[in-house]
Amino acid sequence: MPLILGIDTSCDDTSCAIVSNGRDILSNVVASQIEDHAEYGGVVPEIACRKHLENIIWVIRKALSDAHCTLGDLSAIAVTHGPGLVGALLVGIGVAKALAYSRNLPLIAVNHLEGHIISPFLAPNVECHFPFVSLVVSGGHTNLYVVKRLGEYELVGRTVDDAAGEAFDKVAKALSLGYPGGPIIESLAGKSGADCVAFPSPMIKHDNYNFSFSGLKTAVLNYLRFDLQIASSDEVSDKMGPDLLSKVCAGFQRAVFNVLLQKTLRLASSRGASLIALGGGVSANGALRKAFSEAAEQAGLLAIFPPPSLSTDNAAMIAGAAFHHLEEGQASALDLDATPNLTL
Ligand code: KG4
Ligand code: ZN
Repeated sequence: MPLILGIDTSCDDTSCAIVSNGRDILSNVVASQIEDHAEYGGVVPEIACRKHLENIIWVIRKALSDAHCTLGDLSAIAVTHGPGLVGALLVGIGVAKALAYSRNLPLIAVNHLEGHIISPFLAPNVECHFPFVSLVVSGGHTNLYVVKRLGEYELVGRTVDDAAGEAFDKVAKALSLGYPGGPIIESLAGKSGADCVAFPSPMIKHDNYNFSFSGLKTAVLNYLRFDLQIASSDEVSDKMGPDLLSKVCAGFQRAVFNVLLQKTLRLASSRGASLIALGGGVSANGALRKAFSEAAEQAGLLAIFPPPSLSTDNAAMIAGAAFHHLEEGQASALDLDATPNLTL
């Protein structure tokens, strides 16, 4: 049973996990930096790197002790080498190299996006039917893949501007709601009742699988400025009651999810895929899960999601993805570098 220690420091979470056999999570420790970045309304790279340095050693120690194992029990060290913030990635890579070198273990470089793709399968009894369609919907990416087998990912569509999670964060900032925006908008949208403020779903009619969310963010800003005469986010609480605020959140969220849903279902049907797997922070959203589950069932498909704790960034998905690389003998050399714009 290969036991893999995974590390992810790609953005603002410092995470280490121990995964057995590519699927069984023995531990998954995530040190969040949300409080350190909240006052800036987004991730500050310099702060993220310094926090990773502070956190990485205790996070690794805790992952080992939670899993009741020692470094001597491990089969490999896996680490995210991109995409992400270069300084943040280098913290994880440096520590992973030291562990691999000192214990004479294979070092497995993992693409963070591959981690999100495999995250719904990190549970017992979740079956994988190839080809399947994967939607990675996070703060940095909105990518649609056809997965032909593990390791063979065809990128069929992506956002041409902002990622869906980024749009949640920017709209939340404009509404003075705090960071990260996704969970706050989800909770307010849940209070809106049936009707909401209607916003357009960008590119929904385009005959391709790409997305665009920056125009939708602008539509929300224009609604605030021109319909409600709100010139800056400081005026939101005075000029907008809780009822209208929740209707705006619900309308924005619905516009994002409509286009994600339609294009993902269309791709699944055009490629004969019966399985849709979602991953990434936005896939933690309950309304998104409900919409995908219901629509997939109506179309005779199955939509699967990671548990919410594995939707957002974590190292269990990195250790899980490393398993098939290890099986195929794909270890990295110790001069492994960070690749901030790594694609999949
Ligand atoms: O996957 P992730 O942790 O980091 C990246 O790889 O980007 O995703 C973070 C993103 C943030 O933009 C956050 O606002 C969004 O995921 N997010 C959500 C929810 N939880 C996190 N978006 C919508 N609904 C949520 N419940
Ligand atoms: Zn991520």
